[in-house]
Amino acid sequence: MVNYNLLIKEAQNAREYSYSPYSNFKVGCALLCKNGKIYTGCNVENASFGECICAERTAIVKAISQGDKEFLAIAIVGGIDEICDFTYPCGSCRQVMSEFCESSLEIVLFNGRERKLCTLGQLFPNSFDKKSIK
Ligand code: THU
Repeated sequence: MVNYNLLIKEAQNAREYSYSPYSNFKVGCALLCKNGKIYTGCNVENASFGECICAERTAIVKAISQGDKEFLAIAIVGGIDEICDFTYPCGSCRQVMSEFCESSLEIVLFNGRERKLCTLGQLFPNSFDKKSIK
């Protein structure tokens, strides 16, 4: 079973490494593999704004490039101020997740106060992915 509290803690730690001098919006995430390994990621921005990389894609690319490609869950921590809503993965990250993760991937959102659980299938139904071009 997924230890959501541990995954959120790892995402919060990773968030501290966020390089976000342009948006000042820190995001951290923790991606849990089926073998128990956890890959973390943060957003890494660039003066050429189009080159900004989201936390989720950082973690996924780290995992794939180290030979891990089976995932169970991802925790995402963005804004944690009182006024902040949950930080949902952006469209590009949902597309990249759909390449490597099953629709049952658990997505754990934490806003500093409470957590919300959903699945990739709920956030990104009818995706265009590997199955679409067989
Ligand atoms: N960002 C993420 O890292 N993940 C998300 O799910 C949403 C947005 C980053 C991109 C950019 O560095 C900053 O948040 C503001 O958009």
